[in-house]
Amino acid sequence: MQKIHIVEVGPRDGLQNDPANLTVDEKLEFIARLEAAGVTRMESGSFVSPKAVPKMADSPAVFSGLTRGGRTRHIALALNETGVRRAIEAKADEINFVLVASETFGRKNQGMSPQDSADMLATCAPLVHEAGIPLSAMISVAFGDPYDGDVDIAVVGNLAAQAQRAGIAELALGDTIGAATPWHVWRAIDRVRIEAPDVTLRMHFHDTRGAGLANVFAAVEVGVDVIDSSCGGIGGCPFAPAATGNVATEDVVWMLERAGYDTGIDLGRMIETAKWLEGVLGHKVASSISRAGVFPIA
Ligand code: COA
Ligand code: ZN
Repeated sequence: MQKIHIVEVGPRDGLQNDPANLTVDEKLEFIARLEAAGVTRMESGSFVSPKAVPKMADSPAVFSGLTRGGRTRHIALALNETGVRRAIEAKADEINFVLVASETFGRKNQGMSPQDSADMLATCAPLVHEAGIPLSAMISVAFGDPYDGDVDIAVVGNLAAQAQRAGIAELALGDTIGAATPWHVWRAIDRVRIEAPDVTLRMHFHDTRGAGLANVFAAVEVGVDVIDSSCGGIGGCPFAPAATGNVATEDVVWMLERAGYDTGIDLGRMIETAKWLEGVLGHKVASSISRAGVFPIA
């Protein structure tokens, strides 16, 4: 069975934009439940300005409360040198650095142009390498900017090439606002494979316009085997108007396992976690599988 690696981003991308304010203990319980459901890589927090994203202000406390030594690698998100230093200090197992593919979103989200973000990665990468921590990057708004509209695929390719030169092991193409379609996904993957042939590709889709699972299918069909998703499909981006959650982990797992792929995730436990999360968040989650149940019924 071919393996598809799921990177669970609920504790970071999911919680950063949910109206609910979870305590550190609730976040740690969420993370523990995800681990028990078989998650082996997870974005467990981000080391950004607490003024920019107040919901991630407690990430240092979350990281220091993690149970270590299991099979799960805890990824910290960072966007600048301060963030990278804080993530190293917090003993992140991996760091995911955010590049940005478009001007206006870049300015609003992180005060950087696309080239600024690539320069920042070039500055930060040696620190991460010196610390012996695996480094990945995500190109945010790679498929569209909520303010500027279409994103030039050449910009995405150029950032990918610079990220490869900075020595990252893995690169995610981020559809931050759910603008991608499967054909766009294929064009972007083709371009990035030409510009950055040595990096492993990961895809990060939001389901804002209903194409999330179709985009996962498109990526898997052309050989991508690392997919970001969030339990329940929670989340969004505080700097993208009307952004909604990531593709839901349980929906992705159900679709892929029906096709014979192995995700290593226990679907029943993932659904239970999404139900638990509804109680903690105080609202329903977006996932179709958590609403409708699996098919065939066990
Ligand atoms: N962690 C904590 N605080 C940080 C920080 C970090 N990684 N980077 C900067 N700061 C603090 C500075 O110390 C400074 O604090 P002060 O106002 O008390 O002096 C303040 O933030 C501004 O610093 P500056 O370097 O001028 O940054 P900026 O205002 O240009 O903002 C970012 C840049 C990247 C820090 C900010 O835009 C940010 O954190 N964005 C996060 C966006 C995000 O997470 N989006 C969702 C995921 S993609
Ligand atoms: Zn996202």
